[in-house]
Amino acid sequence: MQQPLIIQGGTPLRGELRVNPAKNAALPILVGSLLTREPVTLEEVPRLRDIEVLLELLAHLGTRYAWEGRTLHLHTPEITRTQAPYELVSKMRASFIVLGALLAREGEGEVSMPGGCAFGPRPVDLHIKALRDLGVEIHEESGTFTARRAGWPEGEVVFDRPTVGGTEQVMLAAALGPTEVTIVNAALEPEIVDFANFLQMLGVQIEGAGTAKMTIRGADALGGGRYRIIPDRIEAGTYLLAVAATRGEVLLEGARPEHMDALLSKLKNAGHTVVTGTDWVRLKSTANPEPFDVDAREYPGFPTDLQPPVTAYLATVPGVSLVRDLVYPDRFTHVGELARLGAELHLKERVLAVHGRGLTGARIKAFDIRGGGAMVIAALAAEGETVIEGMQHVGRGYEDLEDRLRQLGAVVYGEPVRLEQAAD
Ligand code: UD1
Repeated sequence: MQQPLIIQGGTPLRGELRVNPAKNAALPILVGSLLTREPVTLEEVPRLRDIEVLLELLAHLGTRYAWEGRTLHLHTPEITRTQAPYELVSKMRASFIVLGALLAREGEGEVSMPGGCAFGPRPVDLHIKALRDLGVEIHEESGTFTARRAGWPEGEVVFDRPTVGGTEQVMLAAALGPTEVTIVNAALEPEIVDFANFLQMLGVQIEGAGTAKMTIRGADALGGGRYRIIPDRIEAGTYLLAVAATRGEVLLEGARPEHMDALLSKLKNAGHTVVTGTDWVRLKSTANPEPFDVDAREYPGFPTDLQPPVTAYLATVPGVSLVRDLVYPDRFTHVGELARLGAELHLKERVLAVHGRGLTGARIKAFDIRGGGAMVIAALAAEGETVIEGMQHVGRGYEDLEDRLRQLGAVVYGEPVRLEQAAD
């Protein structure tokens, strides 16, 4: 069990930070390495618990891997098993997409239903329907999906709604073979584009990544190569919000501002000074920001993964802000905890009214990764001491959190998040 994190709040964060690589780009790319017999090297992979959990699953399926600092070498000359068991899949929803890779490479796969999560149901029906539409036979029994393809996946998939994981699932399933697959209403997230770039490096032909219509032409066999993952726009956004919540100043190096339009425009309109270059973002907070409303939605809209962090930030801004999450309408587990710090929040018909004011320290708990990000932001802004429990969730998504906060001048105590501790 992770030790609680203790934050002495009320100090404006100031300094410079280099953005870490994107967890949500790294995960599908790691799974994508299953598609080829050749070695793959990924540069600058985040050392996060979710990555370790996925590596455990890949090793179970036949991948050999080795870390060299933050560089990860992966090699899957043979798939030795086509079953992804519950113990491994249930730890992290993202691992469900190994099904697509197993189907592509071995023609069959068996994967348990991924576990639920703290902020509401997250079904996989769109993944299953999409694969069936491409001719894959899938049976479900006692929470396990068994999939088999007779020929190669072929045709068109029309998603009822854009789904990041569903789009990745189809990209994986379609990466090998002589056929062509078109995805209509594909997810547009930068992580999808990064994944497509990685698959293209292996030899898959992809057109339209980052648009609503993407075409994937499989290859007979794929090569290997070396790839660098994009910076994490969610981590970057969380730090910007932490700095703005404490009315500080930061230079985020390695950030990609074009991936962060929705957040940057909100911060600018609130009165903060935001200056960007091709690979950096500078934020200088105003002492008196304006409140704003947020509708979290699919990219390029405001990211749902920044909805808890932005709610924490808005709790420090005098006035009323309305927050809705159109991707996960019940993603509000952070609300009760923010209230403990003195925030006034009213949730009615899935619209959260945030009445911003000064916060004060208390004992609170993180229930999921980004809800944990929200706790940290609120604690940094609150006067006095806050003790945050449930830090094992936060360690899934924020690498070296304590050290990075200290680098910005935050007063933080507690054991650093270590992978071996975080794995519960
Ligand atoms: C990914 C991200 C997650 C982010 C989410 C939305 C990773 C590892 N995780 O999750 O951090 O919060 O995108 O940006 O990249 N849905 C269905 N049926 C399905 C699949 C999805 O109803 O089969 C619904 C979901 O419940 C949700 C919406 O579609 O309401 C979007 O989910 P999706 O884009 O699939 O999220 P993930 O890929 O799981």
